[in-house]
Amino acid sequence: MSDVTFSPARKLRGSVTPPADKSISHRAALLGAMASEPVKVQNYLLAEDTLSTLAAIEALGALVTRDGSDLTIRGTGLRAASPVDGAIDVGNAGTLMRLLPGWLAGQDGRTYTLDGDASIRRRPIDRIAEPLREMGVLIEATDKRLPPFSITGTRPTAITYELPVASAQVKSCVLLAGLTANGETTIIEPEPSRDHTERMLAAAGVDVRRDGSAVTVTNVDELVMDREIVVPADPSSAAFLIAAAVLVQGSRITVNGTTTNWTRTGFLAILERMGGVIVGEFESQPPPGVVPAHEPVGPIEVAHGPLTGTTVGADEVPLAIDELPLVALLGCFAEGETVVTGAGELRLKESDRITTVVDGLNGLGGDLEATADGFVVRGSGGLRGGSIEAHGDHRLAMLGAVAGLASRDGVTVVGMEAAAVSYPTFEDDIKRLVER
Ligand code: S3P
Repeated sequence: MSDVTFSPARKLRGSVTPPADKSISHRAALLGAMASEPVKVQNYLLAEDTLSTLAAIEALGALVTRDGSDLTIRGTGLRAASPVDGAIDVGNAGTLMRLLPGWLAGQDGRTYTLDGDASIRRRPIDRIAEPLREMGVLIEATDKRLPPFSITGTRPTAITYELPVASAQVKSCVLLAGLTANGETTIIEPEPSRDHTERMLAAAGVDVRRDGSAVTVTNVDELVMDREIVVPADPSSAAFLIAAAVLVQGSRITVNGTTTNWTRTGFLAILERMGGVIVGEFESQPPPGVVPAHEPVGPIEVAHGPLTGTTVGADEVPLAIDELPLVALLGCFAEGETVVTGAGELRLKESDRITTVVDGLNGLGGDLEATADGFVVRGSGGLRGGSIEAHGDHRLAMLGAVAGLASRDGVTVVGMEAAAVSYPTFEDDIKRLVER
């Protein structure tokens, strides 16, 4: 395990392009594998999670050729994934574990097993198993809800399914299964979540519609992506740099190339409300019925600003789910209280992020309290510093690093290598931006 110390930064300056988006990369690989004609992907994320997805689609019969981060994927077609000997290894990737079964659902009569690392083995799959079983798919899981689990494909029955909790992963899984179903499949979400699957399906000519909180997909004979998929930079990776620039006095940075898709900019809205200086053109919610077939991209300029506490409720949670640990950190530096509710999902991420964030930041001198579905942060004018354990969770590792830059004494992150799951060049980018 590598321990890395992040000393207090004098300021952050310069411009940076974060790595490619993890969610969009997973989807590009899966749709490429499901397509009938070769699919070109530009700027695919070369990080552990998304390399697991490439290995998985190769095991299932797709042919992937790579030139740096540009890929050509020759897929097997929607219903012709190859049989696999042994388990498909999803590594640490929850998104792969929950989206891939959507494709496997349509592999009539073939059984696949999915397994992953120790963290994956504690992450439930009942949320995808329930709708897939309704569609006629057979799923057998460890202790009824955990990996390893097996899935036997069928000719899925089209369903209308109301998600109990907003989740882009579950929504995407059901949409992918809907492609091979016998009609129209509809998913109703309690709150909007990231919509990359819908956009990519629209780009592939699939009839996908949104009507209020309902998304409907019509089955297709085959999937043909007639244009290259260009993966934008990842706003959730960018968020760590943005938070550092807002926290460290005198900072001003430009973040280039991230998607400004409105389902991914929830954190920026929260940050602006708290007093961070954010300048950029962000997508607004598309009119009813419309599913854009592209990802908007644009630069974001960020500068330090004095922060005040805020309240984040259930409606904002899915649009900022991966950035909520940063909201806790910002809360430590803000005046007054910062409260997050309706975020019980955090307990099911790469670590139990309510416990690991609250304990981790308290260990650095913060004043946080965990609740069942979120946390309360009492702003204490900053953080002393110390040491924080990453718990094998990439976002915890990067949280500790940003805390270090903004702290009085610096922070040692125990297990910094966890960042490689989504942001292998994180330490290099920090080094380039920090002026000491
Ligand atoms: C993701 C959706 C989110 C997010 C995860 C990636 C996706 O999970 O936390 O990092 O790519 O669909 P949920 O939608 O399950 O909350």
